[in-house]
Amino acid sequence: MASIAVVYFSGYGHTKKVAEAVAAGAAQVEGAKVDVVAVDAEGNVSDEQFATLDAADAIIFGAPTYMGGVPWQFKKFADASSKRWYVRSWADKIAGGFTNSASLNGDKATTMNWLVTFAMQHGMVWVGANILPANSSKAQRDDLNRMGSFTGLFTQADSDQPADVVPPKGDLATAEAYGKRVAGFAGKR
Ligand SMILES: Cc1cc2nc3c(=O)[nH]c(=O)nc-3n(C[C@H](O)[C@H](O)[C@H](O)COP(=O)(O)O)c2cc1C
Repeated sequence: MASIAVVYFSGYGHTKKVAEAVAAGAAQVEGAKVDVVAVDAEGNVSDEQFATLDAADAIIFGAPTYMGGVPWQFKKFADASSKRWYVRSWADKIAGGFTNSASLNGDKATTMNWLVTFAMQHGMVWVGANILPANSSKAQRDDLNRMGSFTGLFTQADSDQPADVVPPKGDLATAEAYGKRVAGFAGKR
């Protein structure tokens, strides 16, 4: 049985919604055990939550893009993981990542590139996305991969809308597909 952990920070609930969709997708893989770990408002993750990450075959990291990068709470969690870095306890785990922001671009790529670097620091094996982008003149807001990302999962939430409205359903479906893809690799280890 493959175990997948989704660890994320969300200030206002939008990234939480994406995390839940990623987890739901991962759970679609037969035999998958999925845990969701929220970094709290002070950037803390409990010892028990860290133990969940330690036990996982795959860890999917998620954060909104704030000021072109991860929020300080997620960085605090990442820095706290350095004890694992030192003993290489996350090395060779499968990794993936997602970021959500208000703008269509919003410098999400900077956040994603940092998430990749974070996973590489741990010696993890990164899984990108594999859905052709919806970028033709016929593309719709609810299409899969309307953000056109391959390094991981990008989603977008209009700045004036609450988390029960955005990200739109196509982004959440993309999140499910990405979670399922990463979980599939975890099961092959
Ligand atoms: C401090 C701060 C910085 C932000 N910086 C960006 C940014 O660089 N690019 C962007 O597109 N949106 C930016 N946003 C908007 C958030 O990414 C967006 O509202 C997102 O949906 C918030 O996710 P959350 O509800 O999980 O916190 C910022 C929001 C905050 C509060």
